[in-house]
Amino acid sequence: MKVDVVLGSFYGDEGKGKIIDYLSQNADISVRCTGGNNAGHSIEIEGKKFAFHLIPSGILNKNTLAVIGNGVVVDPKVLIEEIENVKQNGYSIENLKISDKAHVIFPYHVQMDKLQEELRKENKIGTTARGIGPAYCDKFERCGIRMADLVNEKFEEPLKRNIQNKNEIFKLYNYPLIDEKEVIKEYKKYAQILKKYVVDTVNLLHNALEENKKILCEGAQATLLDIDFGSYPYVTSSNPTIGGVCTGTGIGAKYIGEVYGVLKAYSSRVGEGPYLTEQNNKIGDTIRELGHEYGTTTKRPRRCGWLDLVALKYAAMVNGLTGLAINHVDTIGKLEKIKLCVGYEKDGKVTMNFSVDSDDLKDCKPVYEEFEGNFGDISNCKTREDLPENAKKYLNRIEELVKVPIKFIGTGAARNAMIIC
Ligand code: IMO
Ligand code: MG
Repeated sequence: MKVDVVLGSFYGDEGKGKIIDYLSQNADISVRCTGGNNAGHSIEIEGKKFAFHLIPSGILNKNTLAVIGNGVVVDPKVLIEEIENVKQNGYSIENLKISDKAHVIFPYHVQMDKLQEELRKENKIGTTARGIGPAYCDKFERCGIRMADLVNEKFEEPLKRNIQNKNEIFKLYNYPLIDEKEVIKEYKKYAQILKKYVVDTVNLLHNALEENKKILCEGAQATLLDIDFGSYPYVTSSNPTIGGVCTGTGIGAKYIGEVYGVLKAYSSRVGEGPYLTEQNNKIGDTIRELGHEYGTTTKRPRRCGWLDLVALKYAAMVNGLTGLAINHVDTIGKLEKIKLCVGYEKDGKVTMNFSVDSDDLKDCKPVYEEFEGNFGDISNCKTREDLPENAKKYLNRIEELVKVPIKFIGTGAARNAMIIC
């Protein structure tokens, strides 16, 4: 049995939750591989709205094991709140498993995130201020504390060392100092609560593969936020692309099956950084309102614009996408005219080669093709054939240029408002 993967194709918030929700109904295990509570995956089930930041949304299926992989950075406080929320809504949390190797976020990571943003001044990244970057820094610096250390209460000494070091920096900038005793007390409490969920997930996943179980990897963030392939430095601090799935779970490349790239029929971005097809104007405002483009995690209004096929082709390339999942086709269909970016023009030449280099992008101009909108209500369309001509033309062109088949078409907000091709 192959492991299927759902990844973000652009700058996040493509509606990965909806596709994951559908696919996890047939999955025995659903895994988060990278990132932390910078992610926000909203899904609506039985009239209840959930916004998951850490727990794989597969947890809502009774028979699906929800695994937080080793590549994730875990804020225990947030995780415990999320566990409580799942329980209070009448769902079981018994199927949650957390990797013993996942790194833990501490209050100094969150404070460091804020300090670093402040120091970047006008070059700020616009992080979610959840401590994600500093936690990954400690992981690579090899002073991180892992879930196993936490729940086995082997973290006091390294934690004290870390706090001393970080406090030296906070002192320099007149930031509040971290109280060692308080953090130890607080985290011992978390350790007790989380202990029963922490296991060796690498062996767990491989045992499941041997038993022919279906595994689904839930991507967070997205290709253009990737530390290697994204618009550096305006990126997150992990690899939300396909490589991160392998390193974030211990699942080797030979096990990977379908790799679905999720996108919206338009585009959006939170935080700073280049964004060529951004519509910082009335059109962008309209898309934001129609698509409710406000952050799940930070509530920030998202920057909105047209779909960029140059970027999508790049996402297809670096991830080896086998299928596209296009959300918000209903939303874009509310506009009268729709534009699709089909190339970048630079020095009089048009290219399909994407660049993440801000300086490079500065001289590029998007080349647009215009499509007719007014799709009408498509929420009842069950097949691609049922879609209105205008919608078909738009989708066909995307497929034609990116050369990856469309496998899912989002036709509305409801859980089942989706065409499976
Ligand atoms: P989901 O999984 C959208 C963005 C932040 C910022 C940059 C770095 O919901 O698609 P970080 O806090 O990670 O250091 O911030 O990355 N970012 C996201 N944008 N959706 C996300 O996740 C994001 N996770 C991080 O806005 O620009
Ligand atoms: Mg988000």
